[in-house]
Amino acid sequence: MRILVLGDRGMLGSDLCRLLAASHEVTGADIDDFDLTSFSDCRSIVAERDPEAVINAAAYTNVDACETDRDRCFQVNAEGVGHLARICRERGALLVHFSTDYVFDGTKGTPYEEDDPCRPVSAYGSSKHLGECRLLEEGPEFLLVRTAWLYGLNGKNFVETILAKAKREKVLRVVDDQVGSPTCTTDLAAAVKILVEGGRRGIFHVTNRGTCSWYRFAEKILALSGMKDVDLSPMTSEELGRPAHRPAWSVLSTRKFTGATGKTLRFWQVALEDYLRSRREPAGD
Ligand SMILES: NC(=O)c1ccc[n+]([C@@H]2O[C@H](COP(=O)([O-])OP(=O)(O)OC[C@H]3O[C@@H](n4cnc5c(N)ncnc54)[C@H](OP(=O)(O)O)[C@@H]3O)[C@@H](O)[C@H]2O)c1
Repeated sequence: MRILVLGDRGMLGSDLCRLLAASHEVTGADIDDFDLTSFSDCRSIVAERDPEAVINAAAYTNVDACETDRDRCFQVNAEGVGHLARICRERGALLVHFSTDYVFDGTKGTPYEEDDPCRPVSAYGSSKHLGECRLLEEGPEFLLVRTAWLYGLNGKNFVETILAKAKREKVLRVVDDQVGSPTCTTDLAAAVKILVEGGRRGIFHVTNRGTCSWYRFAEKILALSGMKDVDLSPMTSEELGRPAHRPAWSVLSTRKFTGATGKTLRFWQVALEDYLRSRREPAGD
């Protein structure tokens, strides 16, 4: 399949390119090549590459910055998706797009299903939800994958932040009142490959298995990295006082993914151990 991956320098986009290139004709593009907020840029890049599938991993992903940079955040995460959806519909191409657990308010108390109502509590969550709406309004052939708490080798993420802080500060406080499912981008990319190659369409929730708070996630990162001399303690979201609200319990049900593919992603602790090993090893050819 001829595939165009947008956001190919990002965490998920770079892993998707690497994985899909083994069995497909893959090209990538990022902010230096086109701007998602420009309809003509989107139309030109898609016309130039002529893909059968566009995979959009480009997004405005800084959740706190979205609160103050609302216009840009909505332009990228909502209107930009509308541009791609329209272009894909007109060309008859498949659009694969990503959304987030932050489209939910985190009060349900059991894992969110694909058709649960969205009630975002932040600008980022609202912009991603509007992006989903734009996609559905335009009505291309689509696969929409909601995921959560991503970390990967090519981008800023919680694992890297904790490791860097632990080296510098030796005393860490991490929020313990937000629960989700940490997800490794290599595992997510593999799941997307299965969905695309299986001809799946519609909305799917995909995360690594299991749940934890950011505090428990940090505890595991430090333990697996042998950083025993760090003084880690829990704090509340209110104490941290970040600009954006986050859902308290935004676990996604992956039952539909498992039913459709027969697969379940690994427990997050196992994926994390692998990630920490691979970031220590120099990249081979
Ligand atoms: N990260 C998470 O924890 C998380 C959780 C749930 C869902 N998701 C979703 O998963 C997808 C992938 O996330 P990610 O964390 O892998 O993203 P990422 O690492 O932030 O990569 C996104 C890429 O998109 C580029 N980009 C930003 N604005 C653009 C624009 N206007 N035009 C073209 N390119 C633009 C970015 O460039 P710059 O770096 O120069 O801005 C970056 O290279 C996104 O849809 C995100 O919303 C992420």
